[in-house]
Amino acid sequence: MRFVYECCDCGAVYETDEVFYQCPSCAKDQDGNTFPKGNVIVKLNSDDLKQLVKKEHVSMYDFFPYPVVDADVYPVGGTPVARPKRLAKRYGLKNLICKLDSALPSGSFKDRASQLIAAQAFAHGQNKIALASTGNAGAAMSCAGAAYGLDIILFVPETAPINKLMQSVLYGATVVPVKGTYDDAFALSIAYTKEFGGINRNTAYNPMTIEGKKSVSIELFEQLGRSVPDVVYVPVGDGCIYAGVYKGFYDLKEAGLIEKVPHLVCAQSKQSNAISHAWRTGDFSNLNKATTRADSISVESPANGRMAVRYIKESEGWATEVEDEEILSAQLELAKDAGIFVEPAAACAWAACRADSAMLAERFGKDVRVCTLLTGTGFKDMAVFQGRVSIPQAIENSVEAVKKRFS
Ligand SMILES: Cc1ncc(COP(=O)(O)O)c(C=O)c1O
Repeated sequence: MRFVYECCDCGAVYETDEVFYQCPSCAKDQDGNTFPKGNVIVKLNSDDLKQLVKKEHVSMYDFFPYPVVDADVYPVGGTPVARPKRLAKRYGLKNLICKLDSALPSGSFKDRASQLIAAQAFAHGQNKIALASTGNAGAAMSCAGAAYGLDIILFVPETAPINKLMQSVLYGATVVPVKGTYDDAFALSIAYTKEFGGINRNTAYNPMTIEGKKSVSIELFEQLGRSVPDVVYVPVGDGCIYAGVYKGFYDLKEAGLIEKVPHLVCAQSKQSNAISHAWRTGDFSNLNKATTRADSISVESPANGRMAVRYIKESEGWATEVEDEEILSAQLELAKDAGIFVEPAAACAWAACRADSAMLAERFGKDVRVCTLLTGTGFKDMAVFQGRVSIPQAIENSVEAVKKRFS
């Protein structure tokens, strides 16, 4: 599909067939104290989009700017929609669904972006992709690299969580630990692609990361019988997933397939609430310190914060903040009462949704259709259960011991 790039901040439009990252004039206007500027939006050609209304079924690939070849080599999408009836009853949300993106190949939502970045690389005749990540994005890109035979160069701060890094090492990526912060790793990965070529997949910096993430909304539309939820809860750190979810619904609307973008809720930890705070106050200052235990959403200077705040407004959404304790208890509730095992960042979406449940029913009625986007599997971070959940002591290998245990 034909497309151009539009700067989210100044609105300048860029037409190019080359790989394009950021609006040059806004990107150089950074002060280091406020959310970064210059991210661009992929604007699909509206005539091409409108053709899609004629199709009986649409797939995410119909809406992609690059063709995905060999989609089944790295099968991204088609994640289950769960209807957790025990939770629905408890919170008076009878039309509650959970989108289980924890079931994607590398265990997180980030596979959606990595699939389109791989397609971008192929379209430009590249087989090398560099990025900085502390976790799921790196694992997802490395997974795509293993599946397609692409070289992945992953820059990570040396303090990055070991369990997510191990995945990338296992997938065969070239992992480069950096004696510095995530921002340092980010800058070095850009220096790498400038010097040695390849595509840079840094989140938000490469607009195709946001564009790939929109696939979830298109998939939901078909899974729900060509309709969309009234409200969608999205866990937010940098604001890229949130922007991707918005973009998918936006494109469906532009195509004439839906009338309205759902209300999108930005779910954040109170211990990492930069975007929520900016939406409430209009102040785009970076946080001094993000301390949430949900490492995937722990962000001080959100890479896509400005676009996310804009989309909260455009979707008539809002931000809901929850304490870390609520996130961790929501994680256990999903496991125990819905059979859904997710990492803390994903549980933040459910924590926010259940915190809002009374308001949702009051504002939209008890039939409100609510979707909670669960973005990462619980196996990513087993350390979070230390001191909270314990495995029972072993019994002797005898029937007597069984009787004693249960009497
Ligand atoms: C599992 C999971 N959920 C949510 C997020 C938040 O996404 P974003 O940083 O795009 O807001 C991330 C980002 O790493 C993630 O890995």
